[in-house]
Amino acid sequence: MISIIGSGRVGTSIAFLCVSNALDDVLLLNRTKDKAIGESLDIANAIPSTSKFSIHGTDDYSKLSGSDVVVIAASTGIYQKDRTENIHSQVKMIKEIAKKIKCYCPSAIILLISNPLDVLTYFFQRETTLPRFKIIGVASSLDTSRFRYLISKKFNIPQSLISNALVLGEHGDSMTPIFSGVSVDKNPLLSMVGDDEIFSLTRSVRNYWKKLRDYKSRSQFGIAKNTYDVLDAIVHSKELSIPASVVLEGEYGEHDVAMGVPVKINQHGIFEIQKIKLNQFETDMLQNSSKKIRGYITSQI
Ligand code: LAC
Repeated sequence: MISIIGSGRVGTSIAFLCVSNALDDVLLLNRTKDKAIGESLDIANAIPSTSKFSIHGTDDYSKLSGSDVVVIAASTGIYQKDRTENIHSQVKMIKEIAKKIKCYCPSAIILLISNPLDVLTYFFQRETTLPRFKIIGVASSLDTSRFRYLISKKFNIPQSLISNALVLGEHGDSMTPIFSGVSVDKNPLLSMVGDDEIFSLTRSVRNYWKKLRDYKSRSQFGIAKNTYDVLDAIVHSKELSIPASVVLEGEYGEHDVAMGVPVKINQHGIFEIQKIKLNQFETDMLQNSSKKIRGYITSQI
C-alpha cells in the first residue's frame, strides 16, 4: 500500500497517477478528513476496470499500518519567495509525522516532498533514526527535469537528444546544475555554451518554480511525476538512477546534512550513492549548497 500524507494538489496528483496506472492500493491521509475522502472518491473513478487496487481517504494516522511506502506532501502553509519561509512550522510538523510513522509503519520507505526538502529529509531521519537509505527526498530529479527542459528550449531540440542532465545540492536557490557531464546530440554541452550562458541557465533552473508561479499558484505535475517514477521503481523492483536528497555520512565529503546527490533506487529504497566526477566550480558550488542547508538545519536545532 502507498500512503500519501497531504491531499493538496501535489498529493492528489500523485494519488491520481498511482491509481490510474494501477500501481498499488492508495491511502490518502489529510488533517481534514472530508478533503481526503472527497479526493479519494473522485480519484476512485480513475481506477482502471482491470485494476485490483483501490483508494481510501482518512484523517486517522493509525490507518498507515501496512504501508510499504509513505509519501509526505503535507504543508503548514503557502510560501512565496523562498521554500524556507515556513521552516519552523514545517520542521515541527515533520517531527510529529515522523513519530506517527515510526509507530504505525516503521518498515516503510519514506518519500519526502514537503519543503524545505533537504532540511525536512534530515530531521525526519534524525527523529526516527530509520535507515537513511529508506528516506528519500524527491526534488533534485524535478530540478533536473527543468534543467533538461531549459536546454531543449535553448537549442530547440527534443529532450531525447540531451543526456546526463543533472542538478545536485539544495532544492533551493543554491542548487547546482552539473554542466560538465551533459551532452547535446552527443556534443559536450560545455563546448556549446560560454560563461554567460552557464550563468543564465543556472539562474533559470533555480528560478523556474518562481516563474511558474507567475502563471499558476504553485507547481504540481512535475513533482508528482518525478515522485511517481520513484514509486514505480520501488513497487515494480526496477532500478532507477536519479538525483535525490539523502542524509550523507561522508559521501561528497559531507556529514550530518541531507542534500541532492546521484542515487540508485530499487524495491528496498536507495541502494547506492553514486560518486561522479565534478569540475572544481561544481565542487565549490555543491559545498556552498551543503553549507546553506546546514545553516538552516542548525537554525532549527
Ligand atoms: C518546486 C517545489 C516542489 O520546486 O519545491 O516546484
